[in-house]
Amino acid sequence: MKEKIGVLGAGTMGAGIAQVASQSGHPVVLVDLNTEQLQKAKANLAKTLSKLIEKGKITEDQKNDIENRIEYASDIKHFSGSSLIIEAIVEDLAIKHKVFETLENVVSENCILASNTSSLSIASIGSVLKKSDRVIGIHFFNPAPLMPLVEVIPAVQTGLETLESSVELIKSWGKTVVVCKDTPGFIVNRVARPFYGEALRIYEEGIADFATIDWAMTHFGGFKMGPFTLMDYIGNDVNYAVTESVFQAFYYDPRFKPSFTQKRHREAGFLGRKSGRGYYDYSEGSVIPSPTEDEDLGKQIFNRILVMLINEAIDAVFMNVASKEDIDLAMTKGVNYPKGLLLWADQLGLKNVLGDLERLFLEYGEDRYRPNPLLKRMVKENEIFFN
Ligand SMILES: NC(=O)c1ccc[n+]([C@@H]2O[C@H](COP(=O)([O-])OP(=O)(O)OC[C@H]3O[C@@H](n4cnc5c(N)ncnc54)[C@H](O)[C@@H]3O)[C@@H](O)[C@H]2O)c1
Repeated sequence: MKEKIGVLGAGTMGAGIAQVASQSGHPVVLVDLNTEQLQKAKANLAKTLSKLIEKGKITEDQKNDIENRIEYASDIKHFSGSSLIIEAIVEDLAIKHKVFETLENVVSENCILASNTSSLSIASIGSVLKKSDRVIGIHFFNPAPLMPLVEVIPAVQTGLETLESSVELIKSWGKTVVVCKDTPGFIVNRVARPFYGEALRIYEEGIADFATIDWAMTHFGGFKMGPFTLMDYIGNDVNYAVTESVFQAFYYDPRFKPSFTQKRHREAGFLGRKSGRGYYDYSEGSVIPSPTEDEDLGKQIFNRILVMLINEAIDAVFMNVASKEDIDLAMTKGVNYPKGLLLWADQLGLKNVLGDLERLFLEYGEDRYRPNPLLKRMVKENEIFFN
């Protein structure tokens, strides 16, 4: 029998993580204070699995096994005997602290205590533990059963054994694991910021409208969705909150400055698809506006956003957030970028990337455009990321 896994919080992420663990053959206990939420999670799982049967991906027996392996409970006492608990409750440090303190009383010495937090520090979450070498970040992407990437984040307290067994276990669930430092936004939510931020800035300067910027990124960049379509999917409330939290956590580094346009959309309740209107109108009968398909303009927009993304990916290498391989893997597997940003930089030529950033920096005189020192060094030494 495989190890028992505990998942705390049966919301969007917790329910998905419980499904992943059960599909990999683990007995799972899914705990939520809200019993309605537990029932909802159970009903949603049944629907999802029925769809998988229709598609011929699983059999009726497998569906029953996956369902039967999950126990739904409202008391964390049911976690007893688990070898790993993944916490996926509300993103609030004070509440997570309380929860981690009590978790330690119901599990054994060797149980790993992980958080799925997107924006809080793992070191801080683990600070309330008596045995703090067992804390770790295990960050899934939404929807957890479909997105292949998982960021594993050791905190300063995390023991090597905790890290190694977490990586091994999550890999055994068929996930692509990247290991990254306990820094704001980890890899994906840090490196991806300019995809939204620079697109919003280009719009605010009046260079192009939403549809044209989206067209530039899909047409020239091969991105599956343009930034405004994607923000409308994610929700402007959720996306703005991540940007603001990364900005604050980086001590207000201007590179991560949030945008008034997005803030106003959020304030107006233009949250995106879920509210019927975001940057685009999704109400019945409405038509998404057509882009201005001006090749030169489109290339300029795409290039400006791309070099800003590359600069951010290079900064993550420079600050040892993760290996260059993991940074490229994270962006292709976590947010479906068509290519890793560092490989893209090699192909464009690091000298050209630096030239574009220097032109932006010179024109605007703003810190957000400053080229990363590692990029400058590599150009000087005639180096590339991948041979
Ligand atoms: N939604 C995403 O796209 C996403 C992606 C990656 C990580 N995350 C992170 O995952 C975590 C959960 O996010 P979500 O979107 O699934 O939230 P959610 O609001 O959908 O679910 C949270 C669940 O936790 C339950 N809960 C709250 N306090 C609890 C407690 N003390 N004990 C037991 N259950 C409790 C709530 O009843 C709710 O069902 C957050 O830390 C978030 O930052 C979210």
